[in-house]
Amino acid sequence: MITSQAIEKRISVRNFLKKELDQETKADLKLFLKTIQQGPLGSSLRLELLESDILKDNGLKKLGTYGTITGTRDFLAGAVKQSQFDLEDFGYAMEKAILYATTLDLGTCWIGANFNKTQFTQALVLKDNEIIPAITPIGLPAVRKNWFDLLVHISAKSRNRKEMKELFFDTTFEKELILPKNDPGYHGLNMVRLAPSAVNLQPWRIIWNKQAKIFHLFLERKKGYKKTIEMMGKVDLQRIDMGIAMAHLEVGLNEKGVTGKWKKVESPVEKISEEREYIISYFI
Ligand SMILES: Cc1cc2nc3c(=O)[nH]c(=O)nc-3n(C[C@H](O)[C@H](O)[C@H](O)COP(=O)(O)O)c2cc1C
Repeated sequence: MITSQAIEKRISVRNFLKKELDQETKADLKLFLKTIQQGPLGSSLRLELLESDILKDNGLKKLGTYGTITGTRDFLAGAVKQSQFDLEDFGYAMEKAILYATTLDLGTCWIGANFNKTQFTQALVLKDNEIIPAITPIGLPAVRKNWFDLLVHISAKSRNRKEMKELFFDTTFEKELILPKNDPGYHGLNMVRLAPSAVNLQPWRIIWNKQAKIFHLFLERKKGYKKTIEMMGKVDLQRIDMGIAMAHLEVGLNEKGVTGKWKKVESPVEKISEEREYIISYFI
């Protein structure tokens, strides 16, 4: 089972041991991947462990990440059928797989930009209406960090996270959310706070409506980001971030015995500023 322990333990690993995963670990992971065939918002998807040895035997080239990842042999990658919530669903499902891998003591690192799409398209045998939004190397973490790891940790202050009060609000965006630490909602939201996000931008903003028992999830856009990705035809990594946040909220709440359903509503709050985009709500 995936618990908050995995969330607290996971960090981005960019330097791996050049050692093959043992058969038992691989089998365990593959079994878990098979159970994920759909995201919580309905998109069909598949996740696969891509092993460099098997790919080589099939005449495919070594999978590449342009030097940002060192030492790894294997990757976790997936494809999602294009649909309204494809990127959120992919983020959710892949993060669940990443957290599961963390419980097996494996290292991972979300890679949304620097990977060779052509190679992964071949390795996954991509179908017409499928996309590969992101991938992750997977393997045994090396003790020493590589140059890119150090760079990211210095520039993005990687483990730094915003404070709860910057991210989460009470009923409206105008009111600070104050919850006791033993409240399941506090725990769930704190798990969101620890989530990985592209360039560590932490774009998730959540309103907790206690009366209605709903968490409303919003995406606070990096200025100019949406225009840039539309112009360049790139994957919207911030929507993947939102899917990751959904997974973390669920893990945190579920382990405190709180379950719910994901649904989009007409008007989650009266006023939404322009840079905030409403994504989805969790009804408990
Ligand atoms: C959708 C997404 C895409 C990412 N893309 C990259 C990437 O291309 N290269 C990279 O080195 N890290 C990438 N990251 C990792 C983030 O930089 C990292 O999660 C963030 O700095 C927080 O650090 P932590 O994962 O160690 O907690 C990505 C993360 C997410 C969620």
